[in-house]
Amino acid sequence: MMNNRIVLFCLVSLVLSAAIVFAHGQGREEISLHGGKMGDITFPHHMHHGVVNDCMVCHKDFPMEPGALQTSKKAGTLKKKQVMNKTCLKCHRDRKKAGKAYGPVKCSGCHIK
Ligand code: HEC
Ligand code: HEC
Ligand code: HEC
Repeated sequence: MMNNRIVLFCLVSLVLSAAIVFAHGQGREEISLHGGKMGDITFPHHMHHGVVNDCMVCHKDFPMEPGALQTSKKAGTLKKKQVMNKTCLKCHRDRKKAGKAYGPVKCSGCHIK
């Protein structure tokens, strides 16, 4: 009797965690990021999955969790504008130089007031 309940509990937990991984695995399609005084950024996340091809290009500096940029900046593991300069702008500028399709390089291209 007891053993059956434990088995059932394990199965239910397994199905639930698989559903959570499935729902959150790729993250949100579009994410609103905090941009301080400059205004927030509407970031097309899934569009970048296609261009960038490697999650860790961005996620090496912050975890795959909602609000990770703000949480990491508050915890001091990430400097303000670090991701903007070293990840976002760096790639967009390098690609522009290389003559490839690139994302915004001007403030107002990302920060919407
Ligand atoms: C071009 C940069 C970039 C790439 C590449 C990228 N992400 Fe993200 N990801 C972000 C940003 C920015 C956030 C938002 C963090 C925050 O909310 O502060 C995020 C958040 C997430 C989250 C948290 C849930 C959410 O929707 O906020 C998950 C899960 C995630 N990403 C998964 C992935 C996976 C899987 C890949 C590769 C297929 C990937 N990301 C590639 C930038 C990127
Ligand atoms: C390619 C997109 C992009 C461009 C272009 C861009 N930013 Fe950002 N900016 C971001 C992102 C993403 C963040 C949040 C992550 C971070 O702080 O690194 C941010 C954050 C900021 C912040 C807030 C930092 C904080 O935590 O308080 C300021 C201020 C800022 N940017 C100013 C600027 C200025 C000024 C320019 C133009 C010279 C500019 N940004 C251009 C993407 C961009
Ligand atoms: C490794 C390269 C790379 C990184 C890193 C990257 N981007 Fe991009 N981004 C691109 C490319 C390439 C495009 C243009 C795609 C196209 O037009 O086909 C783009 C386009 C964009 C656009 C314009 C989307 C549109 O609808 O026109 C925004 C906004 C943007 N990126 C913001 C960001 C932010 C914010 C970050 C950092 C969190 C970031 N990008 C990191 C390569 C990158």
